Amino acid sequence: MPVIPRLVYLPVVIRFTKVSKRYPTGTGPAVEAMTFHVGRGEFVFLTGHSGAGKSTVLKLMYGEERPTEGDVRVSGFGVGHLGRDELPRLRRRLGIVFQDFRLLEDRTAAENVAFALEATGSRADVIPQRVARVLEQVGLANKSESFPRELSGGEQQRVAIARALVNDPPVLLADEPTGNLDERATRGVFALLTDINAAGTVVVMATHDLDLVRHAARRTLEMRDGRLVYDSSADAGVDP
Ligand SMILES: Nc1ncnc2c1ncn2[C@@H]1O[C@H](COP(=O)(O)OP(=O)(O)OP(=O)(O)O)[C@@H](O)[C@H]1O
Ligand SMILES: [Mg+2]
Repeated sequence: MPVIPRLVYLPVVIRFTKVSKRYPTGTGPAVEAMTFHVGRGEFVFLTGHSGAGKSTVLKLMYGEERPTEGDVRVSGFGVGHLGRDELPRLRRRLGIVFQDFRLLEDRTAAENVAFALEATGSRADVIPQRVARVLEQVGLANKSESFPRELSGGEQQRVAIARALVNDPPVLLADEPTGNLDERATRGVFALLTDINAAGTVVVMATHDLDLVRHAARRTLEMRDGRLVYDSSADAGVDP
């Protein structure tokens, strides 16, 4: 039988085209003329010095900020000109994780995760099962009744990741998700994000942790003063 070459079709999930962002009160552009794209299945690190523009890039992706110039497309949405009911629809297709976890302190781990389902109008009868499944996935099945104050930083971040994942988003955006964690918890959270990516979710992770970036051998976008100065996928012979 002849061998038929398999065509690998990698649809673009995130596309920045000549994107600049100036904040009204900012001294200079936070993001300047950035062009890149992220395809289905990718894991991407976003690195750069403090103030380089990493969080701004993520905010542009989840529609918290609009570009001053250029075009931002995420999961088929044009973030620069989202209609009134499109922002919640975009957000439903994204999981977002922050450095400071942002859990509700007066709710258990399970209730924090359930909240994300309630907020998107899930049927009440399916919620407990989905919450249990995703807490199991992040390795916290035995902590579902714990409150955030009863959990370690790494465990709290796992709850936050479970909450971000519970709606099965095709894209997970993480802004310094390991910034408050020690080395061991950092490795655990990174391993979890890697598993999530292996299951098909695009992951974009902003980080200062160059040790992690060096060892992980994943695509890396480096920013300096708002500009994209390095994209490891542009290296010869390396597939994005
Ligand atoms: N809401 C805002 N208003 C005005 N300027 C802002 C605002 N948010 C960020 N900036 C400025 O934009 C630039 C980029 O900030 P951003 O938070 O994106 O950087 P960062 O790479 O995430 O930094 P860090 O590593 O410290 O988190 C900085 O110069 C910052 O002062
Ligand atoms: Mg930041």
